[in-house]
Amino acid sequence: MRFARRMEKLGIVASFEVLAKAKELEKQGKDIIHLEIGEPDFNTPENIKKAGIKAIEDNYTHYSAAAGFSELRGKVAEYTSKTRGIDISPEEVIITSGAKPIMYYGITLFAQKGDEILYPNPGYPVYESIIRFCGAKTIAIPLLGKNKFKIDPKVFKNLITSRTKMIVLNTPSNPTGTILSRKELEMIAEVAIKNDLIVLSDEIYSRIIYEGEFQSIASIPGMKERTIILDGLSKTYAMTGWRLGWGIMNKNIANMMSRLNGNITSCASTISQQAAIQALDGDTSSTDIMLSKFRDRRDFIIKGLNKIPGFKASKPSGAFYAFPNIEKTKMRSVALANYLLDKAGVALLPGTGFGKYGEGYLRISYANSKENLQKALDRIKKAMKERE
Ligand SMILES: Cc1ncc(COP(=O)(O)O)c(C=O)c1O
Repeated sequence: MRFARRMEKLGIVASFEVLAKAKELEKQGKDIIHLEIGEPDFNTPENIKKAGIKAIEDNYTHYSAAAGFSELRGKVAEYTSKTRGIDISPEEVIITSGAKPIMYYGITLFAQKGDEILYPNPGYPVYESIIRFCGAKTIAIPLLGKNKFKIDPKVFKNLITSRTKMIVLNTPSNPTGTILSRKELEMIAEVAIKNDLIVLSDEIYSRIIYEGEFQSIASIPGMKERTIILDGLSKTYAMTGWRLGWGIMNKNIANMMSRLNGNITSCASTISQQAAIQALDGDTSSTDIMLSKFRDRRDFIIKGLNKIPGFKASKPSGAFYAFPNIEKTKMRSVALANYLLDKAGVALLPGTGFGKYGEGYLRISYANSKENLQKALDRIKKAMKERE
């Protein structure tokens, strides 16, 4: 069997790879604490679950239009207009099976051989994988710990060439939790407008903010037309398994994306789409409760990590990941992540799962109970001591 050449370019998502390894160890009887996968440990709020059940009972079990139900597109347009301070129409919304397809679609629509696409590094690994898959050149924007994982404007501007086609952004960031400030966004917007670039703005964690204010680059004058916003319900409403997300983009791009979605999935699950209407319409108190628990856990894990010799962690402003520096342990990220899985039964990710600038770091999801976080901290501490 000979696979197509392009398959060599597609990466493996580290979190799912470690999850599989951890599950294997569990099968052998090992007790594993899962801090590798990026999903809330909470269940979907009751009102949304009921809307999903009702959708089945009401026979929302057929296809919808490729771009999604118009009622949901309207709700998403309303929600985005309110949260980003821009005017979005339902025709500018495409509903997809989770938010991830927006990454693939957004990049596929523009990237081809000869193009250069900038993306955050460390950053969500799928950006790099898809850019490469499309035959374009991957240009990493280094986000260094010594700069608090912020974009260095000078370095950033130097990465732009006549072949640059697109910039991928992620705020708040997975894995660092950093938020892009208005000033940074304005700098990027100026470059994007001057060079006629498209921006793919991954805003999936926009509601999971502890400090500072979330801002979308699409709200900067001249940017709405050239920005594709990626967003969805997975993180905000603890709905990862419902696979419901969306993209916001100008009508021309939306028409193309709808065509792509129709070719690939026909449409997002209509049951999930009905539940999404309820999520956007209904009570948001469960998101507020989840957020306050995440904040408490963030403070707890950062404090605990900083007590482990060789670990140094700063407080992330958003999302639900700690990204401690582990250079002083004198171990490489992959070696340490493997060691902690085997020795301590703690599944977490090497920083390099998010690109080469992630070397010297680990990514720890704190979307887990405080008891489990305490247990994980104790186990890591013990394992590190045994290494000395
Ligand atoms: C930065 C980022 N974008 C997008 C996604 C994908 O979200 P969804 O599960 O809705 O496809 C994730 C999931 O981990 C993520 O971390």
